[in-house]
Amino acid sequence: MCREGRMNILSPSILAADFSRLGEQIKEVEQAGAGYLHIDVMDGIFVPDISFGMPVILSIRKCSDIFFDVHLMIDRPERFVKEFADCGANLINFHLEATEDVTGTIQRIRFLGKKVGITISPETPAEAVAPYLKLVDMVLVMTVKPGFGGQKLIPECLDKVREVRSMVMQRGLRTDIEVDGGIREDNVHLALEAGANVIVSGSAVFRNNISDNVRSFMEKMGYAI
Ligand code: DX5
Ligand code: ZN
Repeated sequence: MCREGRMNILSPSILAADFSRLGEQIKEVEQAGAGYLHIDVMDGIFVPDISFGMPVILSIRKCSDIFFDVHLMIDRPERFVKEFADCGANLINFHLEATEDVTGTIQRIRFLGKKVGITISPETPAEAVAPYLKLVDMVLVMTVKPGFGGQKLIPECLDKVREVRSMVMQRGLRTDIEVDGGIREDNVHLALEAGANVIVSGSAVFRNNISDNVRSFMEKMGYAI
């Protein structure tokens, strides 16, 4: 479960949850052992779809203390980091492609007392994160095109995970590397081998028996069940 001091963490994406039973399903993933909750915010501009925003996050914050891993797929995220911090995010991930002021956005999130993640879409090379590595807690490497759940993992993106992991190691950092998109029980080992330690999964968690799915992921991630 733990390699070079890094914990493996499962972060179920509520994009695939049943929104009419959201509170209940969040408690279920938490009780089954998930460490984070992945919260996908889409604005219909940076990505073609719209998901949900602050009021939903504020409302689920009341039903769980789980760590909120907020993934902003929004244009110019710097405009809204305070609102997302105020509604209960623990970590705010934003896309490098979405802003011209990456350093300023990182600093703004830090100033709000939250953890910071930078995210790269499949078309963005791994080297793009290099200038910011020392400033962030996490790099999120998208393993599908952002915007929709239920897509297939793009295997080439795992090569970028390897590159980011090696940059992190070379610099002696403890940066988390998260993967997001198309991760299931049968391919999670590939993401872990590539060097990811925070695993997002939506459709493979929120289907059939949610607790069983979480436990099965946790087992594959090295936890004794
Ligand atoms: C995609 C989102 C993902 C998505 C993952 O844009 O960022 O978090 O919910 O869903 P699955 O695991 O179904 O690919
Ligand atoms: Zn996501």
